Amino acid sequence: MERIITGVKPTGILHIGNYFGAIKPLLDMSNNYETLFFIADYHALNFIKSAEELRENSKKLAAAYLACGLDPEKIVFFRQSDIPEVFELNWILSNVTPKGLMNRAHAYKAIVEQNTENNLEKDQGVNMGLYNYPILMAADILLYNCKYVPVGLDQKQHCEIARDLAQMFNNRYGETFILPEPKIEESVAVIPGLDGRKMSKSYGNTIQLFCTEKELQKTINKIVTDSRLPGEPKDEDCTLSRFYALFGTEEQTAEFKKELREGLGWGEAKKKLFALMNEHIAPMREKYNYYMEHPEEVEKILQNGAFKARCIAKKMIAKIRKRIGVNPMAN
Ligand code: TRP
Repeated sequence: MERIITGVKPTGILHIGNYFGAIKPLLDMSNNYETLFFIADYHALNFIKSAEELRENSKKLAAAYLACGLDPEKIVFFRQSDIPEVFELNWILSNVTPKGLMNRAHAYKAIVEQNTENNLEKDQGVNMGLYNYPILMAADILLYNCKYVPVGLDQKQHCEIARDLAQMFNNRYGETFILPEPKIEESVAVIPGLDGRKMSKSYGNTIQLFCTEKELQKTINKIVTDSRLPGEPKDEDCTLSRFYALFGTEEQTAEFKKELREGLGWGEAKKKLFALMNEHIAPMREKYNYYMEHPEEVEKILQNGAFKARCIAKKMIAKIRKRIGVNPMAN
């Protein structure tokens, strides 16, 4: 089986868009690939400056993925910070990385452009962690010699950088790394947010995956509809029915749309949507709460995953050290 890897920064609470856009596709993919998945806590360091918050977010992210059905027997599930070899490779790769390549990385470029627009010094607010971010990500990918990297479109350039660095290393030292490729799931539907635009934290239109039942109900009530009254026919392709289709079967969704056309009131429609969503989410929510209350179990799972990931990492780093001419046996 070919090997794939992906990571997620523990920067916030997961929402329904994350579930359908990233979590579920990864779980599905793990049926066909040897899958590594990690919490990119060191990548989050640039965004989260409180130790307590980073710890708490990592814990929530781990609990959430387990609650969604991640099977640690099937997916090597670990924390980036449990694998020190990744920092060694990070340094090694820095030495094949042209600085100009980092200047062109989207995140850095965007800040420089903004600073220039605001008549500020071009590197205002940029630290080396942000600047070197793509190298650490390349190290994540190359350390396990992964063929594919399932990511969203926003991470495509980072994957291309990883590939470039692998190529440059191979050119200098001989074939060492498989050239990785991003695997961007195009078929994943755009998940709508409360206002009908794409669900995104930056739009403030999300539905949290593991809020309480009451909060879920309240959030669903905020989904924007038009002002048509009960009894008036509704547009069957509204945001409500798009949500309904995510959780319902084809038949259920067809029935819901029919009721809307026949004048189902928005209030009633929201109640139906809540019932359907809650039916699916409730068992996951229960598991999530369980893991949040049993952090020692989560820790054990992550340690186990780290052990497996490190077995791969140690072999790879020994080979790399040999290629570059440093002590391959260093411990
Ligand atoms: N940079 C990715 C993001 O922000 C997270 C990430 C870190 C990652 N290392 C990775 C993704 C390696 C895939 C492979 O979403």
